[in-house]
This record gives sequence, structure tokens and C-alpha cells, in this order.
Amino acid sequence: MSAMLEEMESLLEALENPTAQETGNRTYYTGILWGQEVVLVFSRWGKVASTTTAAHLILEHKVDRILFSGVAGAIDPSLRIGDIVIGTQLYQHDMDARPLYPQFEIPLVHRSYFETDDSLRYQLLQAATHFVQSDPLSETTKKEFRITSPTVKEGAIASGDRFISDTEDATTLKRLLPNVLCVEMEGAAVAQVCADYNTPFALIRTISDTADDTADIDFMTFVKEVATVYTKGIIYKYLSN
Ligand code: ADE
Repeated sequence: MSAMLEEMESLLEALENPTAQETGNRTYYTGILWGQEVVLVFSRWGKVASTTTAAHLILEHKVDRILFSGVAGAIDPSLRIGDIVIGTQLYQHDMDARPLYPQFEIPLVHRSYFETDDSLRYQLLQAATHFVQSDPLSETTKKEFRITSPTVKEGAIASGDRFISDTEDATTLKRLLPNVLCVEMEGAAVAQVCADYNTPFALIRTISDTADDTADIDFMTFVKEVATVYTKGIIYKYLSN
């Protein structure tokens, strides 16, 4: 699953024997990708869109695991644009059923985050680490986005139906959820679906911005020149291993 059309399209180029199924405003592409049977889909943005897409993958396509790739805004000061975060604990930062439940707690589930699958996460970590070490970006792209030596980190990610582009909002979120490294709009929703259906899940995000008032700058260029290159390279390494 990908939250960006461009990332999904970059994988689609390599898909062998593709067949497309259109339903519920999504197109699910089935085929063989670097030796493995896969379904590729652009989830669209936000928790609802990604939830329905994940449920369809599990119930109709009977997938045995889900990998989600996309971009994220950093709220941890150690992260730079072009770094990669592999999600561990996934929070819904807009979940707030107070006073019935503590802020962030998912009602009736007795928890405020879902975890990704250990084994999938480890494999993605290996693939991403090898990939960034191969120095895959052109000098022009690195210069354009001031990327020097990208790192791969594992850590908590928060999702919500809000593009965060305000320093105060980012600071508040970091204060409330100190272990969260970055924010995006789908991961924790897909994680909840996967938990409900016992489906292993992993999440990989490339840092595209710092969730402040510079967050919209060159966003689409970044997705085309960096995120799609990363996704394709990392998924290739993951699947071919
Ligand atoms: N995805 C990429 N950057 C983001 C941000 N700043 N807020 C939410 N989702 C994002």
C-alpha cells in the first residue's frame, strides 16, 4: 500500500503479468513483483481511505501481510529530510475520547498504539539500511533537498487526519507523545485493521518535511525525486531477499 500515487506507479512499472481490479474508488493491481505475488494499491490519503483499502486487501485479496510506504513529517529533532523511519508503535494522534478514555486511547481496545510485526520490520530495516548505503540519489537531488547522509531509524509514528504544518502543533504533539519520531495520515489506521484481522503489518516512511511552516515546500518534487526512488529500491531489496 502506498499513500502516494507516484510511489505505487514506480512499483507498477516493474509488475509482471499485471491485472487490475477496480472497486470502491481504488485500483488493485495483482501480479509478480521481483519474484513475489503481490497486490499494489494507492490507498489515497487519510485514515478512512487507508482503512477501507486495508480491509479490502485482507478480505478480498486474502493478503498474508501488508507493507505500507509513504512520506512523513519529522517532529523529532534528530531527523533530517531524506531520513527513513520504520514504524514500531503507531499512535492515532487525533483519537480523543476524553473524558471517557484517556487522550489517544482507542476505545474498547485498552491501548493507545498498535505495534508493527517484528519480523517484517526487521526485514525492512535490513533492506532500507542496505539501500541508503548504496547512495541512490543523484548529486542534484541531494543538493536540492540538502540531503547528506540519510539515516534509517526505528521508532514510534503518529497518524491523524491532519497535515501538520505548524511549529506549535508539532511541538505540542511531541510534548504529548515524546517517543513519536514523525507524523503522517494513515499508518496507525492500517495497523488497527491489521490487528483486528491478525495480519502482519510494517510501515516505512521517508521524511519529506519537518511538520512546520516549511512543510508544503517542494512536497511533490520530493515525492517524485526522493520518495519514489527510496520506495522502489527498498521494496526491491526486501522482496528479492
Ligand atoms: N506526510 C508528510 N508530511 C506530513 C505532515 N507534515 N503531516 C502529516 N502528514 C504528512
